[in-house]
Amino acid sequence: MNILILGGGGREHALAWAVKQNPKCDRLIVAPGNAGIAMLAECADLDILDGAAVVTFAEENAVDFVIVGPEAPLAEGVADALRAAGILTFGPSAAAARLEASKAFTKEICDACGAPTAGYARFTDRAAAEAYIRQEGAPIVIKADGLAAGKGVIVAMSEAEALDAVADMFGGEFGAAGAEVVIEEFMEGEEASLFVLCDGKDVLEVGTAQDHKRVGDGDTGPNTGGMGAYSPAPVLNDTVLARAMDEIVRPTVAEMARRGTPFQGVLYVGLMIKDGRPRLVEYNVRFGDPECQVLMMRLGAQAFDLIHACAEERLGGIEVNWAEDHALTVVMAAEGYPGAYAKGSQIRGLGELPEDSAHMVFHAGTAERDGSVIASGGRVLNVTARGAILAEARDRAYGLVDQIDWPGGFCRRDIGWRAL
Ligand code: AMP
Ligand code: GLY
Repeated sequence: MNILILGGGGREHALAWAVKQNPKCDRLIVAPGNAGIAMLAECADLDILDGAAVVTFAEENAVDFVIVGPEAPLAEGVADALRAAGILTFGPSAAAARLEASKAFTKEICDACGAPTAGYARFTDRAAAEAYIRQEGAPIVIKADGLAAGKGVIVAMSEAEALDAVADMFGGEFGAAGAEVVIEEFMEGEEASLFVLCDGKDVLEVGTAQDHKRVGDGDTGPNTGGMGAYSPAPVLNDTVLARAMDEIVRPTVAEMARRGTPFQGVLYVGLMIKDGRPRLVEYNVRFGDPECQVLMMRLGAQAFDLIHACAEERLGGIEVNWAEDHALTVVMAAEGYPGAYAKGSQIRGLGELPEDSAHMVFHAGTAERDGSVIASGGRVLNVTARGAILAEARDRAYGLVDQIDWPGGFCRRDIGWRAL
């Protein structure tokens, strides 16, 4: 089978790595890819937000199956364009991608299907939002309705911070994404994510994970796209998981189908768990990054069979062949991230590292220059390992980190602390 993966981060490197191991994969193309992906697949220069361009490329290259990595092309309707052209695709329609692209839409779905989530109100007017904040008090959570590259959520610990956030959003800081604002009750508890494949009708759990959003050790400093992750997440034990599936995921999937916009792809279910009760924080309509890296490490080549079955709407009866294992990934980022950072610093020592079913360095923001790997983004490498217990996975991952020679980079040293 000829397979095209859209995206060029650590998530797509991990997807490509898993797909490539499956004997069904004949030819693998990733657009745009990165320096790590280029070592195992063909990379193509393609505007992945342009549905017509993606369809033309897929037709010219006899692509049998397209896997869409990030949310932006999904929200733009790239999966719709591919399906309309008769090309098998993994990833939701633009209508179903609203579960990530509009926070207000997700709240509406939760209301309609009774899924537990934070209490909320929606505003398109600044004065009304301010009055609501004064009435509710802090802590309180302010969210730009639309896609804001992970920056549109402010967890305000004081009223003043909440009022500033509202002023920024209605002041245009997030462009059109902030034209509507959702203000939510602050939920206490422990956060974890659940990943579920949905073929529109049936659902299949493909793993749990916990991310580390803050840049610094001990969960300090500003928020980032994620500084590391591990799977499974112990807080999502069988009981909590069953509740999340019964009370949140299945009702949501049924409600989307009922509306004529079935969800097909991977649903990333962000949960807050308190006293054994899960509530929805948010949905994303794609794999998490870096959560995908630990999921792929654990699933290996079967990940492709599951994703393929999902796209062909035959998840019913499919089972995951789970190993009793743990995976952990450490993000190495460019000095300065998530603020301003320099690009172009050279990374040495990658060639000498083991690459096997227990050790893998996935590339996020890297490029190749004169035969060397250079940093080309904020989050640059995802140093990933697997072990029989989490501590083993962690020790292996940090063992790899310590062999990488990159003076321009840094990482957190405490990934996995909550579970360890
Ligand atoms: P998001 O960008 O939607 O993933 O939100 C960023 C983070 O904000 C989440 O991962 C949570 O840590 C936090 N968050 C979002 N909504 C709430 C809420 N209602 N209560 C507490 N924390 C929240
Ligand atoms: N790691 C968080 C995300 O992918 O949204």
